[in-house]
Amino acid sequence: MIKIFTIFVLIPAIFAASPFRRCQLTNHPLPDAVFFGGRENPCLQEPCPVFRSIGSGTTYIDFTVPRQVTNIRPHLRARVIGITVDHELPPSMMENPWNYLIGNNPLNAGDRATFNLTVPVEPNTPLVTSVNIFTLFDQNNQVIFCYEIQSVVRGSP
Ligand SMILES: *[C@@H]1O[C@H](CO)[C@@H](O)[C@H](O)[C@H]1NC(C)=O
Repeated sequence: MIKIFTIFVLIPAIFAASPFRRCQLTNHPLPDAVFFGGRENPCLQEPCPVFRSIGSGTTYIDFTVPRQVTNIRPHLRARVIGITVDHELPPSMMENPWNYLIGNNPLNAGDRATFNLTVPVEPNTPLVTSVNIFTLFDQNNQVIFCYEIQSVVRGSP
């Protein structure tokens, strides 16, 4: 009885991850799993919150590498009422994106890797719900993966 209970309680906890969708109007590959808010306590239901009081939001994105990858470029966009705009990423992430990658260097086809996406949340970020669209490109500007998730900016947890 205790064993069965343990299996049913622990397995969902281990595999719990955030919901995400294929990027609208594309056929781009999806990541394997998204942990919005961290691996320990990921957001399980959209809209996934980020908080002004915390100052940043971290998402771990697990993916399987489709081909050899020697360079990466992260790209975040936000869509609000049908209008999509680029969302700035930290300069350090744009200059040295590989520092935010947990995996081999270079990445080979079939490798599993994780991108550690940390996005600043400024004190004046509007308290709105938006769709976040995150794309990781390779050295040839080919999409490694793309996904969308709905998020909301809140003041504090
Ligand atoms: C992910 O990035 C955040 C912010 O840069 C950092 O605090 C955290 O340690 C990183 N996690 C891993 C596993 O590299």
